[in-house]
Amino acid sequence: MIRFARAADRPAIAEVVEAAFGQPDEARLVERLRADGDVILELVAETDGRLDGHILLSRLWADSAALYAALAPLAVRPDLQRTGVGSSLARAAVEQAREFGAHGIIVLGDPAYYPRFGFSAGAAANVKSVYAGGPAFMALALEPDAFEAPLSVIYPDAFSP
Ligand SMILES: CC(C)(COP(=O)(O)OP(=O)(O)OC[C@H]1O[C@@H](n2cnc3c(N)ncnc32)[C@H](O)[C@@H]1OP(=O)(O)O)[C@@H](O)C(=O)NCCC(=O)NCCS
Repeated sequence: MIRFARAADRPAIAEVVEAAFGQPDEARLVERLRADGDVILELVAETDGRLDGHILLSRLWADSAALYAALAPLAVRPDLQRTGVGSSLARAAVEQAREFGAHGIIVLGDPAYYPRFGFSAGAAANVKSVYAGGPAFMALALEPDAFEAPLSVIYPDAFSP
């Protein structure tokens, strides 16, 4: 089951995110994004009360009045990886972002994974960011013209080391 995260999920989310990445940095990123008020939405995957995965979208500061989101992090319990949980979370987050009226989503992630959800480096070609430039910097337009004009985006402070 995919649902919105609740405050009571936070310890389990931290556990899953840290276990997925094998280090605490991404769990700290999640906590800081929440503390700074930069979260757009958090979804969790749950089976019989056990938290299997988590995804977070945060607000990008863009030189446009439209809403642009950053997807990060996405994490699945190590024992359940490659069973479709991450894909379900990614697809649900994209649909929710559309519902929220976001124009586009940007991810800095594995170019072998995110294109299956519609992300591409080509779509991000007009986006200026400190992370732009490589194949890992990908975008997904939720509105057809979301990335047609040049766009500068600044990530929330939580992403800065
Ligand atoms: C990356 C991650 C979120 C993917 O979620 P998942 O539930 O394991 O993946 P799914 O079962 O939905 O998808 C499986 C497919 O993705 C591929 N895949 C999974 N992880 C991948 C990765 N890191 N890179 C490339 N492909 C990957 C698998 O080969 C499989 O492909 P197939 O369907 O063609 O066989 C999860 O493995 C994870 O938490 N990894 C550790 C944390 C991490 O790296 N997060 C990504 C941050 S950008």
